[in-house]
Amino acid sequence: MSSTQTRRLLVTSALPYANGPIHLGHLVEYIQTDIWVRFQKMQGHECYYVCADDAHGTPIMLRAKQEGIEPEQLIARISEEHQADFSEFLIDFDNYYSTHSEENKTLSSAIYTTLRDAGHIHKRSIHQAYDPKENMFLPDRFVKGTCPKCGTDDQYGDNCEACGTTYDATELKNAVSVISGATPIEKASDHYFFKLADFTEMLNDWLSEGHLQEETTNKVKEWMQDELREWDISRDAPYWGFEIPDAPGKYFYVWLDAPIGYMASFKNLCDRNDIQFDDFWKPGNNTELYHFIGKDIVRFHALFWPAVLAGAGYRTPNNIFVHGFLTVDGQKMSKSRGTFIMARTYLEQLQPEYLRYYFAAKLSNGVDDIDLNLEDFMQRVNSDIVGKVVNIASRCAGFIKKNFNGQLSAELPAPALFKELTAASDNIAKLFESRKYNQAIREIMALADKANQYIDDEAPWLKIKNEDTADQVQGVCTQGINMFRVLVAYLKPVMPALAQGSEAFLNCAPINWHDIQTPLLDHQINKFKPLMTRIEKDKIDAIIEASKQNMATQAAAASGPLADEPIADEIEFDDFAKVDLRIAKIVKAEHVKGADKLLQLTLDIGGETRNVFAGIKSAYAPEDLEGKLTVMVANLKPRKMRFGMSEGMVLAAGPGGKDLWILNPDDGAQPGMKVK
Ligand code: MSP
Ligand code: ZN
Repeated sequence: MSSTQTRRLLVTSALPYANGPIHLGHLVEYIQTDIWVRFQKMQGHECYYVCADDAHGTPIMLRAKQEGIEPEQLIARISEEHQADFSEFLIDFDNYYSTHSEENKTLSSAIYTTLRDAGHIHKRSIHQAYDPKENMFLPDRFVKGTCPKCGTDDQYGDNCEACGTTYDATELKNAVSVISGATPIEKASDHYFFKLADFTEMLNDWLSEGHLQEETTNKVKEWMQDELREWDISRDAPYWGFEIPDAPGKYFYVWLDAPIGYMASFKNLCDRNDIQFDDFWKPGNNTELYHFIGKDIVRFHALFWPAVLAGAGYRTPNNIFVHGFLTVDGQKMSKSRGTFIMARTYLEQLQPEYLRYYFAAKLSNGVDDIDLNLEDFMQRVNSDIVGKVVNIASRCAGFIKKNFNGQLSAELPAPALFKELTAASDNIAKLFESRKYNQAIREIMALADKANQYIDDEAPWLKIKNEDTADQVQGVCTQGINMFRVLVAYLKPVMPALAQGSEAFLNCAPINWHDIQTPLLDHQINKFKPLMTRIEKDKIDAIIEASKQNMATQAAAASGPLADEPIADEIEFDDFAKVDLRIAKIVKAEHVKGADKLLQLTLDIGGETRNVFAGIKSAYAPEDLEGKLTVMVANLKPRKMRFGMSEGMVLAAGPGGKDLWILNPDDGAQPGMKVK
């Protein structure tokens, strides 16, 4: 890699949905990208980093409706929150925009028109689930019902969590609309499809050029073994998005205009600066285009997106860098454990650079998940950054200030050791360039150990006390401070604020990669202020506690009767009277082999026991239930389920998942009592 040749790069992170806050999982990606971009800029390359909120689609439309506001108001508010979070995490976008913009509308329409005129769009009628009460077509995630294969209740319209079968929403049994509770009907409507198969050869060529990570290439090749199916790019009104130019009442599916949002955000930047849009988006300009994304959205970026770009006469990406998902303490982020941590909740307790450092220390160039182990996080940051790196400066600065008027010596006493640190710069640059941040950090910390060893050996605190050696202390500390400066320069893409604070202390200009080789000599430095303090355990506890609280508040808000589930149609008193509710004692609760959601309960209703399968596994462990009283529907007709006969139903409340509470009557109730 030649560092003298200036490269021109355009870099993106995936556009976060404008319907919720940024959490630590998202931050893996934005921090990974930001480190890479800062590294490129430090090399002196021309590099732009753009992003935007992904502001369209049904969930955003419904969320706004639920809050009683216009989608425009919702996306404006969320955009502000996202940008505040990003900026405090030191994510330095050159532009942060929205997919709901004029630029994006113009570009999306133009791309669609070009594809259509070239014969790549196909219109045909399809049947879909339709909510007759809300008068709208239902996306798969908004239909729930019984799996047509295994009979498990409460499954989404795309696949069954119990048996893994995929199906169409219209195949679900006892389907209901999640929005209104109505029974969906099937309805036909015209849709617009992008003929992906037209690009089979183009995609094969592109894949064989070796742009992508090996895992990603293999994944895409696997998809391409089957014939490439047409991609449905349209949705019916009511939909929150851009209307398709020649099709009134039809809208672009959010995933059509979302990646075009990368272009639109960049266009908006170009128009405010002296940058040529076409240089980065038309073929043959010797510029580079990179997208950082998570492993869940590879299909959209590595299959559809290059084909759309090629079909519309644009260049394809140089690479799509896919990362894995964040786990916390080895498990999926969990609302009830308090490990579903929002960016804001973290920022209220801790500095952003601790997390930036930890993620860097964990991130490789692969697609494996990365784990935030909270204990390890604290120890690693405290020992590496505070204990090793910052410690070098704090051990040396005082002597220079107090005994030598803040003046560094004119020569380094150990030039070979300094050279050893600076000689690593090419290798560390290669590791950053190839996104092996974990290896870069390992190298940097090995050098920090050497620097500390030097200071231990020279012991300036002893030398200063002895008349014969006191004058060596200026040199020793000048050496220490220069080694500190090299380490901080290497860490600068990861910890830009630490670097900035150090530059102020060192009284030097912002450090670039090329400056690393030249030591600061015969130079006045400023007073040292602690650059970074240790992470205290109670801050981490406070984050977990606050995350649990957050979720409880959200669950309470979401479980208001009008939030998720509107009140069902009125019933007659006689209908109600038919339901025989009884107090039941849970005498036994067990896991059901092969079921993700169900627990098998043995209920005592006063001299009679019942076997009931209840979908409450996400909220309760069996041992939490045994001995408890609950309320059950005692006269529900027994139903045959895949795992056996269910003889009744227990009552629970809440939005679902972890937030589900089995009704738990106060004492005084006895098994078998009628509930009135
Ligand atoms: N809006 C789409 C992207 C459109 S890009 C044209 C989207 N948004 S998202 O908010 O769900 O996710 C944004 C990015 O964050 C994605 O790349 C996603 O993979 C990443 N992550 C979301 N949760 C994550 C973790 N728990 N861990 C790591 N990355 C995660 O997808
Ligand atoms: Zn099933």
